[in-house]
Amino acid sequence: MTPAANSAHRPLALVTGASGGIGLEIARELARRGHDLVVTGRSDRTDSAAEELRRLGVEAHAVRADLAHYDDVEQLWQQTTVLGRPLEIAVLNAGVGVGGAFADIDLAEDLKLIDLNVKSVVHLAKRVVVDMIPRRRGRILMTSSVSATLPTPYETTYGPSRAFVYMFAEALRAEVLEHGITVTALLPGATDSDFHANAGMGNTRFGDNSWKNDKRLVARQGVDALLAGKDAVVGGDRATKFAVLRNRFLPERLKAAKHARMARPS
Ligand SMILES: NC(=O)c1ccc[n+]([C@@H]2O[C@H](COP(=O)([O-])OP(=O)(O)OC[C@H]3O[C@@H](n4cnc5c(N)ncnc54)[C@H](OP(=O)(O)O)[C@@H]3O)[C@@H](O)[C@H]2O)c1
Repeated sequence: MTPAANSAHRPLALVTGASGGIGLEIARELARRGHDLVVTGRSDRTDSAAEELRRLGVEAHAVRADLAHYDDVEQLWQQTTVLGRPLEIAVLNAGVGVGGAFADIDLAEDLKLIDLNVKSVVHLAKRVVVDMIPRRRGRILMTSSVSATLPTPYETTYGPSRAFVYMFAEALRAEVLEHGITVTALLPGATDSDFHANAGMGNTRFGDNSWKNDKRLVARQGVDALLAGKDAVVGGDRATKFAVLRNRFLPERLKAAKHARMARPS
């Protein structure tokens, strides 16, 4: 990474899971709105994402890190703070799914999901919040999911991991608001990224991207809500937003059965 020399006037934002999917769209959206970026991902797509963002006229630093590992989260934080600039925005977005029947999935896969989707979010939020409080400013966006509002059979650990992030965001917000920091939760509905393919769910109804929400719309809604300091936003079209409302009243058993039909491998 190169130290920021001539961009001290632009706010700095960190986006995890920004090498593709919703995270890259969030990073693009923030770049278009004049933010310099630290973008992270596991693969070499992270470097090309940063390169592309620089073409939008901002500074973009790529950090490749496997955030399922404690040391990689620490290294990401170190590489962010070494820039010597105040972090205005943190988008904790990286996450994975694991599809299939719980009994069939290797335990290591489930635990790795929890390491990334839950532990790394708490870990990074700790570093970010402790850094932001003395400055009395900062905005945090956490990507949860519509899956936080229902049981998710055949993605058995995924939904609970997103429910954790949703309630974590709700709790943290109540604490840090008095320090001038906002926490926004983004709850995307099914979105047209590589997410379900990466989760091994190509042979489910979620495997088909054609009917899903546009990741650019989801990212724009997330960034709008983040910059407005809103508590939470459902990412997606009207039907997605309506589904979340309806989920408040439907019994868990019914929601579980519906999700099972979508997520069960064929
Ligand atoms: N797509 C959906 O339907 C949907 C719906 C609701 C919520 N979400 C949430 O949205 C977030 C983004 O998902 P997406 O749809 O954009 O999925 P995606 O296209 O698969 O992108 C996932 C991103 O996370 C990164 N990542 C994966 N494992 C990582 C690890 N161990 N360490 C560091 N980075 C890692 C990936 O980096 P590399 O590719 O470089 O490895 C990539 O940048 C997730 O938190 C997910 O739970 C998605």
